[in-house]
Amino acid sequence: MNEKIVAALDLGSSTTKFLIAEISDGEPLIIGVGEAHSKGINKGIIVDLDKATGSIMEAKQQAENMSGKKVSSVAVTVSGTHIHSVNNKGTVIISREGREITSDDVRRAEESAKVIMLQPNQEIIHVLPRQFIIDGQGGIRNAVGMSGIKLEEEVHIVTGSATVLQNIRKCVRNAELSVDKFVLQSVASSFSALKEEEKELGVTLIDIGGGTADIIAFSEGNISFTEVFPMAGEYLTKDLASILRISIVEAERVKKQYGYVGMDSEEEDSGGEISLAGLGGSRNVKVSKDQIAAIIQDRVDEIFENIRFELTKLGYWSNMSAGVVLTGGTANLKGIDKRASEILEVPVRVGYPGDDGGTVDMLKSPEYSAVTGLVKYMATLNSSRRGAGVNLKWFSWLKDILG
Ligand SMILES: Nc1ncnc2c1ncn2[C@@H]1O[C@H](COP(=O)(O)OP(=O)(O)O)[C@@H](O)[C@H]1O
Ligand SMILES: [Mg+2]
Repeated sequence: MNEKIVAALDLGSSTTKFLIAEISDGEPLIIGVGEAHSKGINKGIIVDLDKATGSIMEAKQQAENMSGKKVSSVAVTVSGTHIHSVNNKGTVIISREGREITSDDVRRAEESAKVIMLQPNQEIIHVLPRQFIIDGQGGIRNAVGMSGIKLEEEVHIVTGSATVLQNIRKCVRNAELSVDKFVLQSVASSFSALKEEEKELGVTLIDIGGGTADIIAFSEGNISFTEVFPMAGEYLTKDLASILRISIVEAERVKKQYGYVGMDSEEEDSGGEISLAGLGGSRNVKVSKDQIAAIIQDRVDEIFENIRFELTKLGYWSNMSAGVVLTGGTANLKGIDKRASEILEVPVRVGYPGDDGGTVDMLKSPEYSAVTGLVKYMATLNSSRRGAGVNLKWFSWLKDILG
């Protein structure tokens, strides 16, 4: 039996999550879980090296204590508006007669596909294969062994600010770890919150956390685009705080405890007044739950209207037979799926990690999609590197050119 330990770090704007997993014959078993309030990290960017290092250390130590294992390297999620992505295509000529395509030809196609004009100070994070096209025939996942004259490879390239990535590396190093690999947060989430069938049919995943909404769309099993929107749960909290004149901490509590969207007051959860702690020890504030819901709904609507507008403008809002899957902590908000469906005009479901039964119970909540997905990503990468026959479908997909 092949056994290996992997560690995954999700640098969320709200929570820093750390998992340690044992990969046994390509299947991950989570043995350590750690979590810390994110400090010094804002919308995917390190704003305070020491504080961010502290959060990583805290989460890491919890996971190490639980698992009884020490880890020296970790895969890390990345997010933020410094990230750009583009689809590109590489072309190579095999031969006039159309001989068999070798792995060397595929490598040449990949080399050609990854030639893009990088924006200043951008670093490549992923070159994810989308499909091969042989003599104009598309939809091919693995080209090796097939015959053809012209081989094309379509890829999805993700880049991020070299400075932002360098600062993350620094914090991770200060926490006595090295970065195994950077993985786009939405790519990580897609590994745990989406089903294969949905990716084939066409689906958009929106991981809506604290600071960012991380979006990834698949059609015919291939990634069609990725996007990061800088608006998510914190936006709801801040608005509640400023309108109700309460602290951020109180607003966060109220949002989680009483927040809902789109339900009418007949529902048992709504209606009634609650008393909130006023700012700086001032008198308590009395508000109705409906009032809280109305504030939250305005912001939720704004977020989804923005997402819809942007994606329509980019020409991506089509080809989604399986609709939208919402995940991330804000997907816990009552009624958000129904409201998102009304605005986006597609079916919406909430995506949980471990829908396939593989995840420990305490992680079966939408905010853990990214970190558990990251563990699955690493397990898949690991088994495909070793050539084990697990998750073969993802093999070519995952074989990132830059490793
Ligand atoms: N029950 C809930 N209702 C509304 N929002 C929630 C609920 N549970 C968590 N959240 C929100 O989810 C966000 C955290 O989600 P998470 O995916 O962990 O974010 P991040 O990855 O950015 O750290 C916070 O903004 C939090 O307020
Ligand atoms: Mg997140």
